[in-house]
Amino acid sequence: MKILIINGPNLNLLGKREKSIYGENSFEDYYKTLQNEFSDVNFEYYQSNVEGELINKLHEVGFSFDAIIMNAGAYTHTSIGIGDAIAGIETPVIEVHISNVYAREEYRHQSLMAKNCVGVIAGMGLNSYRLAILQFIHLNK
Ligand code: DQA
Repeated sequence: MKILIINGPNLNLLGKREKSIYGENSFEDYYKTLQNEFSDVNFEYYQSNVEGELINKLHEVGFSFDAIIMNAGAYTHTSIGIGDAIAGIETPVIEVHISNVYAREEYRHQSLMAKNCVGVIAGMGLNSYRLAILQFIHLNK
């Protein structure tokens, strides 16, 4: 099973950025623990701060991978383009967030991608990604 994890803007700063919200771990370290835990899964990881690059990546893998887990960061709330890209590809996407976006500022309550996703997991810390993997494994059985 091929799963791509995509992180959007500012998520390259995990472990350094607003630690009280996003925690102490870098995504690279967490990604290693995921690879060890799910050794049967063929993972790829991509991060970009650029909206068009995120869209290009969705197009590139969206007809060949089995699953995409995407934390689009702030673009979740603003990007019609990312929402349209998810609607246009075949690979199913789960939207994830580290923080509970519904307990934060009102502008974080809206997602322009959620309606084109299988579902949304938010507020579970980095474990949000792990829960999305478990759901895709469950759906692929
Ligand atoms: C985030 C929530 C977004 O509102 C924010 O812009 C982020 C991270 C999260 O994982 O909690 O960059 O997607």
